[in-house]
Amino acid sequence: MNRVYIKTYGCQMNERDSEAVAAMLRARGYRIVEDEHACDIMLLNTCSVRDAAEQKAIGKAGYVSARKKKQPDFVLGILGCMAQNRGAALLDALPDVDLIVGTQKFHQVPDYLDNLRAAREAGVPIGSSIVDIAAEAGSQNTIRDHLETDEKQVSAFVSIQQGCNMDCHFCIVPKTRGDERSRPMADIVAECRSLAAKGVREITLLGQIVTSYGRRDYAHTGGVTPFVQLIEQVHAIKGIERIRFTSPHPRGFKSDLVEAYGRLPKLCEYVHLPMQSGSNRVLKAMNRPYSRERYREIVDALRAVRPDMYFSTDIIVGYPGETEEDFEQTRELFEACNYDMAYIFKYSIRSGTVAADLADQVPDEEKERRNQVLLDILRRNSERRTAGLIGTVEEVLVEGPDKTGAHFTGRTRGNRVCVFDADPRLVGQLVPLQIERATVSTLYGSLVLSGVEN
Ligand code: 5AD
Repeated sequence: MNRVYIKTYGCQMNERDSEAVAAMLRARGYRIVEDEHACDIMLLNTCSVRDAAEQKAIGKAGYVSARKKKQPDFVLGILGCMAQNRGAALLDALPDVDLIVGTQKFHQVPDYLDNLRAAREAGVPIGSSIVDIAAEAGSQNTIRDHLETDEKQVSAFVSIQQGCNMDCHFCIVPKTRGDERSRPMADIVAECRSLAAKGVREITLLGQIVTSYGRRDYAHTGGVTPFVQLIEQVHAIKGIERIRFTSPHPRGFKSDLVEAYGRLPKLCEYVHLPMQSGSNRVLKAMNRPYSRERYREIVDALRAVRPDMYFSTDIIVGYPGETEEDFEQTRELFEACNYDMAYIFKYSIRSGTVAADLADQVPDEEKERRNQVLLDILRRNSERRTAGLIGTVEEVLVEGPDKTGAHFTGRTRGNRVCVFDADPRLVGQLVPLQIERATVSTLYGSLVLSGVEN
């Protein structure tokens, strides 16, 4: 009765939230299982950023609730962004859902499951659901537990902030994640230290707008933002070898952050820099406070500090009113920035956002066409970069066995996945890898053994 399967939709923040829920549940005596067919409790941790993501989770919940006919004690929960966005209204379409928990209440999940189980054991009729999507002061501090696994964890996500106050006109996140709130710097650094002590070598700092971290809580010191101060502190931790973060906002790339890339070697040369559009007119309509020229300036400044910088981005095609000329501006800037990776989204109407009420919606076929144009450019750019890597030696952090178990995987500083043969004792170490060949998504190579050369 205590086997829990958690399915996660959406972003890395959701992955991290699920991991923390799993850790809390395990501490409470629940078992976290990998097989969704062999669980007593299924939790769907959902995403609302586009309609398709919500429909997927609703479809899954509808399908899974049929299980209750055969397994009357089966518990189904919907957590996270869609729970927050839709609340009890989800029960209209999905009356069999037992638990609806919003983004500020993940830490309550163990109590709610205990209560549901106790009610069942006491013979309370099934059908009374628990819904909690209230706001809670301090909830940004509750995502801090890590799941202990048998495998050595080399790379970890650390939540530094919740919510966003930016009001981009397409975006549902301020509604699902609430106001921007930062965790105390000392707590984050303590969490990173304890991860390092357990063998973690790479930290990814997570938040909806990480570059704004701590702006209401900490002073700038000598022109250095609290976000860069936090990076400096994590950088000072012995054992942490690599630092990444996601997602930043272009407005956060002032000189202190750009310069940080010059003086903090653990900061990996991979930046996810959401552009959304390359048209100044559309950026304005989206309420994105930068121009295409400023965006380009940031990319150039970062490449000046780290010539081998890798960039990824988010783009929305077909924002209401986006003309062929606007798209051409996006296409041009997209090509010029030479991305290694990009997430290209067709605009999706999110009810309750400013853009949802705009006339001039772009037809689906046109969105799809624009999507394909950018995907083609991305493929070409990424292939060119890959071809340039073959024959070079890259620093790789060894993460563990690959899916087949026959080889090992790791990542380069530019976040490319590598597959190679290695000794298990190298897990958690930085090794030089000679890149020999590549597919679209993976580099293959062999370790350069020290002492063999020269
Ligand atoms: N439609 C399409 N894409 C969206 N995103 C956010 N809201 C929407 C929407 N309504 C994209 C943005 C954001 C990423 C996480 O999702 O590009 O950066």
